[in-house]
Amino acid sequence: MTNRLPTSITEHTLLPLIAAPMFLVSGVELVTAACKSGVIGTFPVLNARTSEALDDWMQRITGELAAVRETNPNARIAPWGINLVTHRTNPRLQSDIDLTVKYKTPLVITSLGSPAPAVEAVHSYGGLVFSDVINVSFAKKAAQAGVDGLVLVCAGAGGHAGTLSPFAFLKAVREFFDGIIVLAGAMSSGRDIRAAQVMGADLVYFGTSFIATTESMATQDYQQMLVEATMDDLIYTNAFSGAYANMLKPSIVAAGIDPDALKPKENVDFSHLVSGETKAWKHIWSAGQGVSFVREIESTAELVARLRREYAEIIAEEMRGDAWTNL
Ligand SMILES: Cc1cc2nc3c(=O)[nH]c(=O)nc-3n(C[C@H](O)[C@H](O)[C@H](O)COP(=O)(O)O)c2cc1C
Repeated sequence: MTNRLPTSITEHTLLPLIAAPMFLVSGVELVTAACKSGVIGTFPVLNARTSEALDDWMQRITGELAAVRETNPNARIAPWGINLVTHRTNPRLQSDIDLTVKYKTPLVITSLGSPAPAVEAVHSYGGLVFSDVINVSFAKKAAQAGVDGLVLVCAGAGGHAGTLSPFAFLKAVREFFDGIIVLAGAMSSGRDIRAAQVMGADLVYFGTSFIATTESMATQDYQQMLVEATMDDLIYTNAFSGAYANMLKPSIVAAGIDPDALKPKENVDFSHLVSGETKAWKHIWSAGQGVSFVREIESTAELVARLRREYAEIIAEEMRGDAWTNL
């Protein structure tokens, strides 16, 4: 397998995995727990409700990870990252980019808009820029803007998911993009991580699995709903932000809304993510199709340890070969 990943990732991680940024879910605890477990931890900057709070979060993350590295120089502490909403309706974009530069954030993932506003700033200190995309034309535009990686958000992902099959999408993007590819959507096991690599992905994005960890900011009710729900409980709708997302029907019902009577929302507007009017994500919850495999609430370290065991089992299986290996 070609290795396109820089040593800043390969030498400091225990799995090719990113704990994906999730609105109202990922914060300082989840990010630091992920990095200490050997996988890249990320959060959306808008989870820190002001730029001052973001400054504090970044200071805590960098401080805590530096302290662990100091006491245990041989430990693999993975890099951390943020998600920037680069849509024009985000009024905090410039001040958040300034903080990104101040803390030399190793990985910046842009979503819901062109990555262009972040590329030069992040490259100025040697950081990596990945852009979240849901179709081939967005992927081409992001590649032209000079990103280091593309996150292909496929069908079945939690949050604002796409509709493309990972098989077709990844192959189509590889025809014009030789950078890092992160595959996203509905994955939840070590076998899934390995399968994504075999398909040609360099890294894998897990969101839903990390919502049900003890370090996530999700409420207990939300986590319990994940344990009980299956993929049949999801609805793919644009009724809440104007962009299509997979939402949990039981949470829509609990909010007094009939999931079968949702009206499409015409205008895409993400300003509610900044303004604090977060009903859609605070009380109406999202999950990807991997929700069927969330069976318990566990710590991030336990989740990553399980994924590493599963991944190692698959590698052992591959070494044993199969009926076609030696033909
Ligand atoms: C509750 C929730 C909130 C999310 N919020 C964001 C976000 O703020 N920014 C972002 O780039 N992606 C967001 N996502 C998408 C994830 O980063 C990731 O693409 C997705 O969870 C991967 O699919 P999976 O959940 O099936 O693993 C969110 C996903 C969920 C489930």
